[in-house]
Amino acid sequence: MSQRETWATRAGFILAAVGSAVGLGNIWQFPFKTSEYGGATFLVVYLVAALGIGLPAMLAEFVIGRKSNLNAISAFERLGHRNWKWVGVLGVGIGFWILSYYSVVGGWVLRYIGGSLTGAYFADPASYFGSVSAGLDALVLHAVFMLLVVAIVAGGVEDGIERATKLMVPSIVVILGALAVWVFTLSGASPGYVYFLSPDLSQLSLSVSFDPFPSFSGPLTNVIPFAVSQAFFSLSLGMGAMITYASYVGEDQSLFGDSITVVVLNSAVGVLAGLVVIPLLFVQGVEPGSGGAGALFISLATAFAELPAGRLVGAVFFAVVLIAALSSAISLLEVVTSYVVDTYGARRPRVAAVLGGLIFLLGTPSAWDTAWLTWFDTLAYQLLLPLSVLGVLLFAGWVYGRPAVAELLSGSSFGQGVGVTWLWLARTVVILAVLLTLWLGIQTLFVDGAIVPPL
Ligand code: TRP
Repeated sequence: MSQRETWATRAGFILAAVGSAVGLGNIWQFPFKTSEYGGATFLVVYLVAALGIGLPAMLAEFVIGRKSNLNAISAFERLGHRNWKWVGVLGVGIGFWILSYYSVVGGWVLRYIGGSLTGAYFADPASYFGSVSAGLDALVLHAVFMLLVVAIVAGGVEDGIERATKLMVPSIVVILGALAVWVFTLSGASPGYVYFLSPDLSQLSLSVSFDPFPSFSGPLTNVIPFAVSQAFFSLSLGMGAMITYASYVGEDQSLFGDSITVVVLNSAVGVLAGLVVIPLLFVQGVEPGSGGAGALFISLATAFAELPAGRLVGAVFFAVVLIAALSSAISLLEVVTSYVVDTYGARRPRVAAVLGGLIFLLGTPSAWDTAWLTWFDTLAYQLLLPLSVLGVLLFAGWVYGRPAVAELLSGSSFGQGVGVTWLWLARTVVILAVLLTLWLGIQTLFVDGAIVPPL
């Protein structure tokens, strides 16, 4: 087999990982969910989840990836634990699953760049969304988006992914920052900041009943699993993405430092997106509403339709969303591609193309009807991601254990104490939190009947 690829620079890895993390999750979901689940209260719960649970889990994936130097499935074998391969298989499967509908939303974004420039949605944003979000239009753009993703991944790690994300990530931050400043200068924006950031403590209430099994109810049962799963989704965990990206990293690099950078930048972009989106809605007197698939596209499009420079601002905004979505989607495809390339020594461009085609097919129901998209997304959030992260943590913490600490510390200036603290945190608190999330997620899935596909 030919020499395995690596990142050319340390910044290359960090930017690729941030590019994977920053995506539709930050811009499409995060601001709306924050306003819905208690503003500043949710923000705090989310940050605790990202730092307390997401960060240790990301370190677990980094360790598995760098130590094994292999894709997310073979990594477990290389580390001497064949029978934990299922964790990798589950992750790669979830990558397929998520990318299938992620790409559909990516297609909408493409559509909205054009729609902003021509003003196509200006007359009636809601019915425009209805007509382009499902059916043939959506299917075609889903295909176009997938083609773009395939093109970048086909280019390889250094020339494709690293080069693309080095350009994309700084652009996202700069343009979003500029938009946030511009929104700040608009009159009528201030109630938006209040709405986005004021704490709603009632979201933290919880009641427990024992008859005979403990069952939980109250707003917190939504907030906790949502914050934790949002942290997983947003940090690209539970899908082998971080295992795969870390497998191209050298032993002289501090995984600790890198993961903190990723978590901080990712949260910052989420907040920044909120500071653009929510006040912008208030400027035009649009209520943020309850999120959902169309929130960004309908409410925000309404705001752009009313603004003086709406066409330009709209196009720039959706272009940023597109860049963010693309840099995440390439990590999803890379996970699967990396496995096939490593295992069968097949040519990367062909593998990326075939896999891209299969993922396109899996996404057709979501493109045809948004009810399917919601179903795919709900299952990923409530069940698949927490399950897969649980597997990673059980493996890294309890099965692999001590060697993981050594691997974590390699290349960093932190002492043994920090490594051991991570290990015990991962083994106990973090696993318990993920179990709770999983339990609450399953409870929601079955109580709401969300588990039933929309046939
Ligand atoms: N993190 C990306 C976002 O916020 C989505 C994503 C990319 C992802 N890779 C992933 C989610 C792996 C889960 C697993 O939009």
